[in-house]
Amino acid sequence: MDSKEFVAQLVEEMDRIFARLGETETLEAESEGQVDVETLLRLALKSELEASELAGFWLPTTSEVEAKMALALQCGDEMKHYGMISQRLAELGADLTDFDPLAEGHSPLYQYLRGLRTTIERIAAGPFASEAIAKVRNAQFVTFCRSIGDHGTAKLYDETIQPEEFHHYHLGREFLEKYAVTPELQELAASAVRNTLAIADELRNLAAKTTGIHNIPVS
Ligand SMILES: [Fe+2]
Ligand SMILES: [Fe+2]
Repeated sequence: MDSKEFVAQLVEEMDRIFARLGETETLEAESEGQVDVETLLRLALKSELEASELAGFWLPTTSEVEAKMALALQCGDEMKHYGMISQRLAELGADLTDFDPLAEGHSPLYQYLRGLRTTIERIAAGPFASEAIAKVRNAQFVTFCRSIGDHGTAKLYDETIQPEEFHHYHLGREFLEKYAVTPELQELAASAVRNTLAIADELRNLAAKTTGIHNIPVS
């Protein structure tokens, strides 16, 4: 299959899964039902930190310069998001003095991503699939913030964080469209995407109630 056609199918597959989500479902899943702005911003700090660490971890063992550029940008952007979210939490009166976002260790998704060895899998699972999930989660978060009148947090996500996550996703998508050119590479990319969707905390409820994201065909 042509690589662009392959990627379009992957996008469709992800969109079909996202379409099954209730309007606050990613937020409920990641916070285990504790849907309030401060809890969700603290969880976001952990996601941003993990995304930055992973991009930096992959950088020296990824050979394609285009992929290095995407990872380096992401490494910086995610840490910048960490700073902005911390600042917003402080504005909301949260005390982060003793807060360690990794106090309970890294997430299962981080552990999975860290083990990926090929560039195609890393880009498929990281910038492409994880950022696609982030886009959906953030859109739900913005709607939630507006619904409770927190326009400051909504604005931060809407105007700054979300467009940058979208850019990361796009860089991932472009890379796959260029490099996922053989059945073998497409299989690696598709598996990495499916595993990411199955492991992500934000989609936990969905994974539990479906017959198995792993069984959804990609071609
Ligand atoms: Fe981010
Ligand atoms: Fe991102």
